[in-house]
Amino acid sequence: MSDVSDWWSTEIIDMAPGQIRLRGHPIEDLIGAVSFPQVIWLMTRGDMPSEAQAKLFEAALVAAVDHGPQAPSIAAARMAMTCGLSLNGAMASAVNMLDDVHGGAGEQAVELYGRIDASDAPLAEVLDAWRAEHGPFVPGFGHRFHKPVDPRAPRLLALVDEAREYGTVSGKYAAVARSIEAALAAEKGKPLPMNIDGATAVIFAELGFPAPLARGLFCLSRSVGILSHAWEQKQQGGRNKGPTPPGYRWTYTGPNPIED
Ligand SMILES: CC(C)(COP(=O)(O)OP(=O)(O)OC[C@H]1O[C@@H](n2cnc3c(N)ncnc32)[C@H](O)[C@@H]1OP(=O)(O)O)[C@@H](O)C(=O)NCCC(=O)NCCS
Repeated sequence: MSDVSDWWSTEIIDMAPGQIRLRGHPIEDLIGAVSFPQVIWLMTRGDMPSEAQAKLFEAALVAAVDHGPQAPSIAAARMAMTCGLSLNGAMASAVNMLDDVHGGAGEQAVELYGRIDASDAPLAEVLDAWRAEHGPFVPGFGHRFHKPVDPRAPRLLALVDEAREYGTVSGKYAAVARSIEAALAAEKGKPLPMNIDGATAVIFAELGFPAPLARGLFCLSRSVGILSHAWEQKQQGGRNKGPTPPGYRWTYTGPNPIED
């Protein structure tokens, strides 16, 4: 029998007929008593966050819900709906696009902040070593669209500062992120401000989430926008919409181009 029941082992959920416990808490005690962010924390980490921790965590989740149809994942969700996919199919298509390049900077930033915090070497040295391994772009800084400032980052950092004043977090990762921001600005001779991923990474690191979870949490947050856009597209209709209006074409670079 134990050969069978031990096939899957989990500390997350226990069940018997008429009973469900999440991390030891009867589900009926959680329902109506704790927030969705608290449950995400409980499920992923095992303990229950304080109200203050949950509030800061929720701020990060709220900040990243959407970035419009220019974001490839959101566009993918909308295109998928016009191809007749179901909501879950559209959501899966979109979430599948969130990887290292689109949506992965938060995880990378948590890792980088942790490395800087743990190192006795000067910041420039750690940054150079990081860039030698990962390429020239430092995760969590710069933005293609929001120049000079990503409006989400200063607000999130203000909440981190507030949480530090109340002793909810130490503030050490906020200090690390700000030191990177200052180093990049000095290097480039112009500001290269923290973006949403850099700021949510500060929060996830301050709250003790391991780097890989930061990506999963971003996927949870962005899924809200993905679902909303997929649903809106369903209401709007549209059939088989590609990435650009049909009047626009790609740039052809092969032999014998057709002249307009
Ligand atoms: C988001 C991103 C792709 C925007 O790139 P971009 O539009 O080319 O940025 P800019 O035009 O403002 O670049 C200006 C300069 O800063 C550099 N730069 C931009 N972001 C940089 C970063 N994160 N680290 C180091 N240098 C960076 C560019 O290479 C460029 O340098 P140059 O003037 O010497 O050629 C880029 O900032 C980036 O890759 N950031 C890291 C990844 C990340 O955080 N992604 C999440 C975005 S929300």
